Amino acid sequence: MKPLKKIVILVSVIFFSSIFCVSAQNTGKKTILLNGGKKGNINFEHHMHQAIINDCLICHSFFPQKPGSLDESKDSGTIKAKQVMNTVCIKCHRDMKKAGKHYGPLQCSGCHIK
Ligand code: HEC
Ligand code: HEC
Ligand code: HEC
Repeated sequence: MKPLKKIVILVSVIFFSSIFCVSAQNTGKKTILLNGGKKGNINFEHHMHQAIINDCLICHSFFPQKPGSLDESKDSGTIKAKQVMNTVCIKCHRDMKKAGKHYGPLQCSGCHIK
């Protein structure tokens, strides 16, 4: 086998196994309907945010990667009501706006749907 061919094969093996590693991770649902209390629920684009953010812990250091964990963490008092909304969601949207980038909603009705 020619050395170049060997390299091509090696590179493809590394490339495809790295894709496999990423897809082996459970990235959860594509969109998730979040409980927004009296204000109305939030239709959250989970995978779209994963693509933008690239670091699960920006959100999941506050609540685990499991369905219903946001409400559970609020119920158990690990996080306060509106803490994630203010210190994670709105904070980033505001920072992105300041930086002149694409940003998410800052107004209540941009996130909370009735
Ligand atoms: C911008 C915030 C944010 C980021 C970043 C984020 N998640 Fe999530 N994730 C959430 C929210 C909100 C929930 C819903 C929790 C609940 O149901 O109470 C969730 C739920 C989940 C769940 C539970 C299953 C489900 O779909 O309900 C899994 C698994 C998960 N995330 C994996 C990941 C992984 C892996 C990454 C990184 C590649 C990631 N998340 C990045 C916000 C985020
Ligand atoms: C960027 C999206 C976003 C915007 C903008 C936003 N919210 Fe929220 N809100 C959330 C999320 C996510 C939750 C659930 C997590 C939490 O409580 O931190 C929430 C939760 C809430 C809750 C329920 C808290 C509880 O547990 O009882 C209320 C009430 C609320 N928001 C009011 C508001 C009001 C009023 C505004 C406008 C001034 C607003 N929100 C703007 C995303 C948003
Ligand atoms: C680190 C930054 C960051 C964090 C954290 C973040 N967002 Fe966003 N969000 C964005 C950006 C950037 C966009 C705009 C994407 C675009 O239009 O290109 C966006 C868009 C949105 C949109 C509009 C989506 C649409 O359909 O156009 C909603 C709703 C939203 N975010 C809710 C949330 C909620 C709820 C949270 C917290 C659980 C959150 N975001 C956390 C960066 C963030």
